[in-house]
Amino acid sequence: MENLNKLKIAIGSDHAGFNLKEELKEYLIALGYDLTDFGVDNAEHPVDYPDIGFAIAKKVANGEFDRGILVCGTGLGMAIVANKVSGIRAAFCPDCILASFSRSHNDANILTLGGRVITPLNAKEIVRVWLEVPFSGERHLERLKKIEVIEKEIRGE
Ligand code: RB5
Repeated sequence: MENLNKLKIAIGSDHAGFNLKEELKEYLIALGYDLTDFGVDNAEHPVDYPDIGFAIAKKVANGEFDRGILVCGTGLGMAIVANKVSGIRAAFCPDCILASFSRSHNDANILTLGGRVITPLNAKEIVRVWLEVPFSGERHLERLKKIEVIEKEIRGE
């Protein structure tokens, strides 16, 4: 099992996710997680979610970070952009059950949340569960290997 507090986590948001991202940051630092914030740093100036989402997805895909947490208004745009990056398994998880399955079955390496559609209390619990639940492996590993084959085909390899 992963040593949870050794996980290197990248977090980021657009303007619509900024307030929730700040709350999650404080919560995760208090839990002892190794967290790096890639912005944005305010809710006032609009920043397009693909800019932050793509930057963090690349950092997770290349191994610089173990996990990513991306927050936009709904959580949807961040999931769409992050899943464009080969090796990323981004999951939009508006509840703890999905957060748990996204880890145990899909080995999700990015969690996306919507700052405008969830309470901070719910979001904190979702993030806690998502960081603690391990990947089950076994039959699920074979399915993830199929996704890697698909990614190679898309790259023309
Ligand atoms: C920004 O207004 C909003 O569209 C964005 O945060 C996100 O919800 C997109 O999916």
